[in-house]
Amino acid sequence: MARIALVTGGIGGIGTAICTRLAKDGCTVVANCHPSEAQAAEEWKQARAAEGLDIATITADVSSFEDSTRMIQEITEKFGPVDILVNCAGITRDKTFKKMELAHWEAVINVNLNSVFNVTRPVWDGMLERGFGRIINISSVNGQRGQFGQANYSAAKAGMHGFTMALAQEGASKGVTVNTISPGYVETAMTLAMDDSVRNSIIGGIPMRRMAQPEEIAAAIAFLASDESSYLTGANLPVNGGLFMH
Ligand code: CAA
Repeated sequence: MARIALVTGGIGGIGTAICTRLAKDGCTVVANCHPSEAQAAEEWKQARAAEGLDIATITADVSSFEDSTRMIQEITEKFGPVDILVNCAGITRDKTFKKMELAHWEAVINVNLNSVFNVTRPVWDGMLERGFGRIINISSVNGQRGQFGQANYSAAKAGMHGFTMALAQEGASKGVTVNTISPGYVETAMTLAMDDSVRNSIIGGIPMRRMAQPEEIAAAIAFLASDESSYLTGANLPVNGGLFMH
């Protein structure tokens, strides 16, 4: 039986690469996106179909517990219970702290961190009962080392790994693993939104002297999602071109 994988933020830059890779690996994949992206999701689905991949899409605001719970119910009824959850939905509201308003803080904490509770909670009990589960939280190098202009984002991303380490202990004896991936800078719309000068100076500081391709992040996720990673839990796997080592 194909494993059922849900990828939040599944039609974004990294999300698309994850969905594509998991589908090629034989999973039944559902890509989540925000309700405001329903039209884009339809086009995205058709583009995947043109590549020979049948990937379902579902809209839900993952910053809402109610909407996330409704999404999980719908997926369970239509495809079966979620075996692999990739918490990938994320946004930035980069500001120096002196310019950061409460709304910038709350938006990032709600979408990047509270979403992890909202989506994981409704799949968790079933994973424990079935004795199998893979939770993969997409954090960031900037959650490990902090980043100028990202007090909100760095806090949320660091929080994700605290969640990973705690939950990994609760799932360990039940066949449910929980891990974090911390990508460095990846060529997506999110990093393209930075000013050219900022982006170029960041690339200059990366030992590999380039950003990652989304597929390079997806490859690590594919391993954590597989049955082969059965003894790996509570880890924070850096995929950052050498930008931060610890
Ligand atoms: N370290 C120290 N000082 C810095 C700095 C840095 N990295 N960058 C800028 N400054 C200084 C400037 O020299 C300037 O100093 P003075 O006031 O003394 O002249 C000051 O900060 C500018 O402050 P402002 O509040 O006016 O900053 P700004 O509005 O021009 O820009 C910013 C602020 C939008 C946060 C901009 O610095 C920026 O885009 N930074 C990059 C943030 C970043 O890395 N985002 C990652 C996005 S991708 C992502 O998040 C994915 C992932 O996981 C990796």
